[in-house]
Amino acid sequence: MCGIVGYTGKRPAAPILIDGLGRLEYRGYDSSGIAVSDGKKVNVIKAKGRLFELEKRISGASPEGFCGIGHTRWATHGKPSDENSHPHYSRDKSFAVVHNGIIENYLDLREFLTERGFTFRSETDTEIVAMLLEYYYNGNMLETIIKMRNKIKGSYALGILHENENGVFYAMRKDSPLVIGLGENENFIASDIPAVLPYTRRFIIPDEQEVAVISPDGVTVYNRNREQVNKQITVSDLSADAAEKDGFAHFMLKEIYEQPGAIKKTVHDRITPDGIKLDRIKLDGKKIRKIFIAACGSAYHAGAVGKYFIEKYARIETEIDLASEFRYRDPIVGDDCLTVIISQSGETADSLAALREAKRLKSRVLAIVNVVDSIIAREADDVLYTRAGPEIAVATTKGYTTQLAALYLLGLKLARDRETIPQSEYDGITSAVEKLPELLSAFIDEVNPAAQYLAGKYYPANDAYFIGRGADWSAALEGALKLKEISYIHAEAYAAGELKHGTISLIEKNSLVIGIAADPALREKTLSNIKEVRSRGAAVIGVTDSPDAIKAECDELMVLPATHPALTPVFTAAALQLFAYYVAAARGGDIDKPRNLAKSVTVE
Ligand code: G6P
Repeated sequence: MCGIVGYTGKRPAAPILIDGLGRLEYRGYDSSGIAVSDGKKVNVIKAKGRLFELEKRISGASPEGFCGIGHTRWATHGKPSDENSHPHYSRDKSFAVVHNGIIENYLDLREFLTERGFTFRSETDTEIVAMLLEYYYNGNMLETIIKMRNKIKGSYALGILHENENGVFYAMRKDSPLVIGLGENENFIASDIPAVLPYTRRFIIPDEQEVAVISPDGVTVYNRNREQVNKQITVSDLSADAAEKDGFAHFMLKEIYEQPGAIKKTVHDRITPDGIKLDRIKLDGKKIRKIFIAACGSAYHAGAVGKYFIEKYARIETEIDLASEFRYRDPIVGDDCLTVIISQSGETADSLAALREAKRLKSRVLAIVNVVDSIIAREADDVLYTRAGPEIAVATTKGYTTQLAALYLLGLKLARDRETIPQSEYDGITSAVEKLPELLSAFIDEVNPAAQYLAGKYYPANDAYFIGRGADWSAALEGALKLKEISYIHAEAYAAGELKHGTISLIEKNSLVIGIAADPALREKTLSNIKEVRSRGAAVIGVTDSPDAIKAECDELMVLPATHPALTPVFTAAALQLFAYYVAAARGGDIDKPRNLAKSVTVE
């Protein structure tokens, strides 16, 4: 949801800013822009559309200067257009600002500024920040920024450039991500670490509302009381090519193939002979009365699989909520509950709000998060990292399956604490979890041609229905989301037994149904629902580990490997990710950057 980058040093800023924006484009891609200071004035160039439109605009006329800021946008306030793109100038063009987040009181501030003679060039909330800075400017940048900060409400990561500040720019964040990269005689800001990894591995993460002054020789950070603070430097161990496609046609395909390795990293040292060790997390399953899981999108679907697993093995009542609902529904949460917030990015606004609501209600909060030191990770009482590495494709793949792996570990740990799982069952599942990476790697290779073949056959479909029961229904939810978000085929997931209560009226000759029948305990029941749609003319792709049991009722099959039944959602996910990928490829979709979406959604 908008990516920002900034640079100051000895090199021309524009190419470095464009390069960083290229690695941040997954956060938003409807327009982009840069502002570069040449020591006398600030030059802004921006363009509606993908980054290459900006590159075209600056080719041959790159703004000169060694200090600048850049932005790639996912529109919230105001349509995608040149005017609404960032950076935004102040009235007299002395300031330029890039922003990720939402200024909630921007209408009031617009009125405040209009009354004082300001006029606006865009429909954005961000322009308010640039105008306020000009309004308060008194020659002292720190004072000016603090006055502006005291006036705005909402969330922000900001990069600020002023014409009098030769080689220096400013940054500040609240509820939106921002890292400061430390180089040799050059320094950076970015919305995430991979954006500037080719230049540095040393980072500072500013705390809420701290102001950072960034020059080529150093970075100074001031806290809310305007005192200088010493910041801890972290060294990233991510590989520099983590944000490169590595020969794959798309990031999504690369990330599908990275799943075995990512799951291995998530589980390998956490299953020990003495039980499941969840890092330094101190949880006692015996003391938890109820679990709430709150998340958005695919993370919610992972939570739905987790609910079945935890209830089955740890016998703790587990409720799963969309984070956007949880935050407003006045849930009955107390200090005997555990709230689990699941988020790949660790910055989703609704998930963060759900976390804060759970804490307000005195629940302990455990976050299952991928991005290290992200806001959700920092605010939770405990964090279990999924260790998937940077995920660039907007449609999550390894982010989701590593969440499943983390939830299996959590469920097993709670089950052991509560002594609700027989030793043999515990041993069976842990050993299957340990073998997951190897089995998944072989499976992805094996199912890839089948997924390509099925995509070639069914890509013209207008609608697709994914059905399953229990955890297969949760897997169906994720399968449907993958297909619709990248191929734009209308896709719905239904609990297989529920389809007949209305939606079956949509089934007609050649309707595409993906019937997931992996759970042996529910296979027969799902099979009877597959028969119901088939008898009404549907074309059925069966997803199962027992082809003989269902093949007579299916037109096509995707065969899952033999594993512990609780783990089949991981394999179903991989099969359906590949199916969605090849369908989208056949339909000519922009797979890594589907229309209207952004990877992390930092607005409500
Ligand atoms: C967006 C993404 C989804 C993701 C959801 C939650 O909608 O497009 O892929 O599942 O946000 O994101 P999170 O980072 O909190 O897991």
